[in-house]
Amino acid sequence: MKYDELQQMYAQDEYYWGTDPNELVKRAVEHAPDQDTLTAVDVGAGEGRDSVYLAEQGITVTAIDIAPNGLEKAEQLAEEKDVSIEVAQGDINTLTLTTPIDIFYSIGTIQYLQPDERHDQFSHFKSQTRPSGIHALFAFVDKDGIPLAPDWGDNEYFYNEDELSTYYEEWDCLYTNDVVFDDDSGGEPHRHAGTEAIFQKPSSR
Ligand SMILES: C[S@@+](CC[C@H](N)C(=O)[O-])C[C@H]1O[C@@H](n2cnc3c(N)ncnc32)[C@H](O)[C@@H]1O
Repeated sequence: MKYDELQQMYAQDEYYWGTDPNELVKRAVEHAPDQDTLTAVDVGAGEGRDSVYLAEQGITVTAIDIAPNGLEKAEQLAEEKDVSIEVAQGDINTLTLTTPIDIFYSIGTIQYLQPDERHDQFSHFKSQTRPSGIHALFAFVDKDGIPLAPDWGDNEYFYNEDELSTYYEEWDCLYTNDVVFDDDSGGEPHRHAGTEAIFQKPSSR
């Protein structure tokens, strides 16, 4: 989707993506390093359902999104749930992480990372991750028999089926799951194919 469409969508009172956390964020917390303090970024956080979940687990989290209207709702949700989150507007293509993190979380967003930026951006996000830190990701995958979704934008780029793991060859893969699911985003029922994965940086790097 385009910036203006996202802004308009997030200007509505209703939470488009809901307020319940995605299952992957719960799994990410289970795989996070076992330490008292953890720092996370949720890139493409939308209206903040997963950022707020991370904050509820005592994790220091920054919700990053290109659409400020989504981030406003994320702050509102955090206030309602009585937790604190940081928010920052950013584009995943040019995003610079200025402080080290333990959890890089991004679902439904890495398709906006243009193919020729992927190697460098994943390298940067990895380099800013502390030893034993994790990346939990969901990528839309181009799969035979699954037609293009009606709301797929020309600023979105599929991943090839095994592409994600190529950015994480020197990390451990803790979890991976190929999925096909029904969706009605945009008001028209359709299906998506995707891969979710959790990678961990070796403790010695
Ligand atoms: C499918 S939504 C997922 C939102 C959220 N992760 C969730 O699951 O509730 C994708 C999000 O990516 C954001 N987005 C789109 N392009 C982006 C970009 N270039 N950089 C960062 N975020 C972007 C959109 O504003 C939107 O909130």
